Amino acid sequence: MSIRVHIGGQVCLPEEAKISIFDRGFLYGDSVYETIGTAYGRLFALADHLVRLERSAERIGLRVPPRADIERAVAQTVAAAGNRESRVRIILTRGAGKLDLDPAAVDDTQLVVIVFPLGAPSAEMYEKGVSVAVVSVHRNSPRAIDPAVKSGNYLNNVLALGEARRRSGAYEAILCAADGSVAEGSTSNIFIVVGGEVRTPGLDVGILDGITRSKVLEICRDNGIKVRETRFLPEDLRAAAEVFITSATRGALPVTKVDDNPVGDGKPGPVTRQVMALYDAMARAGVP
Ligand SMILES: Cc1ncc(COP(=O)(O)O)c(C=O)c1O
Repeated sequence: MSIRVHIGGQVCLPEEAKISIFDRGFLYGDSVYETIGTAYGRLFALADHLVRLERSAERIGLRVPPRADIERAVAQTVAAAGNRESRVRIILTRGAGKLDLDPAAVDDTQLVVIVFPLGAPSAEMYEKGVSVAVVSVHRNSPRAIDPAVKSGNYLNNVLALGEARRRSGAYEAILCAADGSVAEGSTSNIFIVVGGEVRTPGLDVGILDGITRSKVLEICRDNGIKVRETRFLPEDLRAAAEVFITSATRGALPVTKVDDNPVGDGKPGPVTRQVMALYDAMARAGVP
């Protein structure tokens, strides 16, 4: 179980990895990133994550290295780390330059890849479910740092998770949009099940277009599970029969407590378990 870093075109140990204190990723969160997990020893949906990385970078005018260079860096770093299952973080920062907010002041994209052991939730968390809390911190407006851009500027989500952990010891924070409807978790998308129908906020609410979210939507559509992208409120979340969250390193993870109250009978429900099984089958088959 080890950590390896690809920086400056080379793979090194974490303690050897250095970046300038003038790097705009450090100074301003002027960066974009992706987190990818392996499943059954292979990277899951790498291509989708690279497309989103390029889209995020384009949205903030950050020059992207050729895709083949990123793929090579990822493959080398994963191989050097040698973990059974890995969590891969790809970061692109705008680089270092003179202290000037203007993004045009610097064009020196830095590619950093960090590979960790996966650190997936425990078997108990999948069996018993986790808790979430709806927090007072709102998701960024799409007219500020658009949540569709996976930027390194995560302070809003950092504060949201801090609120959830301090207030009720919840595992994940759920943020609402400015209209009060449920948006997403601090590092996850959210789904509810109502009357056998799976529901998740649409992209128009102002959320990250989660790769796992889109795989779950695909799984539902392909397997006759009713599914709808729609707005819903915190009270709908609290009243739902089932709740689960999704992310690349967690897949679909059941939620059995919302704001300290049990969801349904307090156990992961049948639709959630079916989605989890279908997601596992997809991961076993592999998604390039
Ligand atoms: C804000 C936010 N929403 C959703 C997700 C889940 O996205 P994905 O399924 O692509 O991991 C993440 C992942 O880190 C996230 O940070």
